[in-house]
Amino acid sequence: MTSPATRLLTVEGTARTGTHVPLIERYRERLPFEPGDPLVTLQEGSTPLLRAPILSELVGAHVRLKLEGANPTGSFKDRGMTCAVSAAVREGAKAVICASTGNTAASAAAYAARAGITCAVIVPEGRIAQGKMAQTLVHGARVIALRGNFDQALVLVRELTASHPIVLVNSVNEFRVEGQKTAAFEIHEALEGSLETLCIPVGNAGNITSYWRGFRELGSAPRMLGYQAEGAAPLVEGRPVEHPETVASAIRIGNPVRWEDAMAAARDSRGAIRAVSDSEILAAFRLLASKEGMFCEPASAASVAGLLKYGAEGAEQIVCVLTGRGLKDPETAIAYNDGRVIPCEPDFGQIEEAVLGDP
Ligand code: F0G
Repeated sequence: MTSPATRLLTVEGTARTGTHVPLIERYRERLPFEPGDPLVTLQEGSTPLLRAPILSELVGAHVRLKLEGANPTGSFKDRGMTCAVSAAVREGAKAVICASTGNTAASAAAYAARAGITCAVIVPEGRIAQGKMAQTLVHGARVIALRGNFDQALVLVRELTASHPIVLVNSVNEFRVEGQKTAAFEIHEALEGSLETLCIPVGNAGNITSYWRGFRELGSAPRMLGYQAEGAAPLVEGRPVEHPETVASAIRIGNPVRWEDAMAAARDSRGAIRAVSDSEILAAFRLLASKEGMFCEPASAASVAGLLKYGAEGAEQIVCVLTGRGLKDPETAIAYNDGRVIPCEPDFGQIEEAVLGDP
């Protein structure tokens, strides 16, 4: 149903099931939305759960990849953003804002555009991947490049939203966590409750919090194994990291806002939060692309790097969450791969040599 005044969809009254419906409609019974509420959707969720035969063989277990890059803006953030922006519109908000390492910015910008409201994002200057910057700009958000890091940006937006009527859509916003928990529902349904271990990258720690909430709501309790990058591993070190550094820019975070929740998820699920090095992340990133045919962004590969480092640890059913699409970060992909480009003149002999000659 479309209301002409706002161009917005509304949540339908009749239950809708299946995978070709907006996330809020699919899981409305378990989300804080009622029929008639405004619905800002780009048809997010219902992402593939892909078998990973090479990884399965390497670790001796059934390994699957939850392809969150298949969401409309290319990352898992869309699950939370459909809820956060729909709720903001319900409250009459005219603007949303976030601090971001890139993906939250791209998602907030897209959903705000869809809703016809304003969006501002604060990103660490020169530190977010090109694809994410392109998305954020093209959706018309106001982009503020902070001469500081993500953690500083988050402190500042929290301060700003405390004194201005702008809705904060970082994962401190409960609707974000509510929306993102639906990925756990999808995995639980697809594997009929047989999941034993979930491997997931951890940055601001909203997503691991969300998955654990989702599994708990279904009475399920897989081990939650969260992976941080070694140079940005506050949860592993037990204290904030002042200057977080890693090639995986999405998780370059030194003081996660969902700290306590993430630690609780790890503890209560008999899981752990662990660190993987940049070279382990890049090795997993290359293996996924070159052997499984799956191009994810470096931060996403942290989940697989963790699995390869620690092994299956007795689990038979494992899911690694690939949080974002590889196209988000072309610079890193081009800088860290084994391939090379062969220049060639438009000449048959040269083409023959280029195609068939020794590499
Ligand atoms: N993977 C990707 C691709 C991300 O963009 C993020 C976070 C994470 C993993 C970690 O998830 O923060 O819930 O623990 N990106 C945020 C952003 C911080 O601003 O886009 P988390």
